[in-house]
Amino acid sequence: MEKKLEKKIIIKVSEVSKSFNNNVVLKDINFQLLEGESLAIIGESGSGKSVLLKNIIGLLLPDKGSIQINDNEMVHLNKKLKEKILLDLGITFQHGALFDSLKVWENIIFKIANKEKINTKQGKQIALSIIEDLGLQPNILDLYPSEISGGMQKRVAIARAICGNPKILLFDEPTSGLDPVTGSLIDKLIKKAVSRIGGSAITITHDMASVCRIADKVILIDKQTISWSGTPKQMFDSENEKIQKFIKTINSDFFLND
Ligand SMILES: Nc1ncnc2c1ncn2[C@@H]1O[C@H](COP(=O)(O)OP(=O)(O)O)[C@@H](O)[C@H]1O
Ligand SMILES: [Mg+2]
Repeated sequence: MEKKLEKKIIIKVSEVSKSFNNNVVLKDINFQLLEGESLAIIGESGSGKSVLLKNIIGLLLPDKGSIQINDNEMVHLNKKLKEKILLDLGITFQHGALFDSLKVWENIIFKIANKEKINTKQGKQIALSIIEDLGLQPNILDLYPSEISGGMQKRVAIARAICGNPKILLFDEPTSGLDPVTGSLIDKLIKKAVSRIGGSAITITHDMASVCRIADKVILIDKQTISWSGTPKQMFDSENEKIQKFIKTINSDFFLND
C-alpha cells in the first residue's frame, strides 16, 4: 500500500504564553496548522483569540514560547524579515483596518502592487474579479472606505486578504456583524481560497454555522488554554460543556438550508 505523505507544518505554535500586567490571557498554547488545512478557533469573547492571532503575526510579542511560520522562527525575528514573511500572508483583523486614504480597488490590490507594477486598468480588473465573488458591485471600486457600509468594508478587507492568492490566510471574525447570506458567501470564499491554491487558513469565529462550513479542525480556547480540539463532526459528540454551549447557538435553519 502506498504510504501517506506527512503534511507539511505551516504554522507551529509552541508553549506560547501572554499576559498583560496581571491579566494572564494565554498559557502554554500548542497547536499546528498543516498544509491544506482550515482551522477554526472558537472561544468566548475575551478568551484571547485575537491576542493569539496578533502573537502569530508579530503584532504582539509572546512572554514565552515559539511561533514558526514555514519553519521561520517569528519571535524576535528582525523587522525586515518578518515583514517579508508577512507579505505572503492574507490577514483580516477583527475591526476592518482598511487604508482610509486609498480607494477600494487600491486597498484590494495593495499587497501585489507592492511587489509588481500594476496600472489602474489592470488593478481595477483584478479587484473586480475578487469582489464579484463577495456579492459586491463594481461601482464601489472607486469609492473610499468611509463611503461604503461597515459590512462592505468587511468584505473589502477579505478581498484584500485573498488578493494575490496567499498560501496562508488568517481571518479574525470575518462574518461577525454580517447578515447570514453574506456570511455564507464569505465562508464559501474562504473554503475556495484554501482548496484552490492548496492554502491553509486559520479563522477565528463565533459563528458555529461557519465552523461547520469551513473547518477541518476546531480548537476551543478557554481558561487561557486549548481546552478542546477535534473535527466539526467530533464537536457534536463532545461532552465538553463549553463545546455543547457553542453547539446550542447553531440555528437549526442552517441544517434545513445547507
Ligand atoms: N493590547 C492589550 N493590552 C492589554 N490587554 C489586552 C490587549 N489586547 C487584549 N487584551 C486583553 O486580552 C484579553 C483577550 O482579548 P482578545 O484576544 O481580544 O479576546 P477575544 O477572544 O474576544 O478575541 C482581554 O481580557 C483583553 O482585555
Ligand atoms: Mg477577538
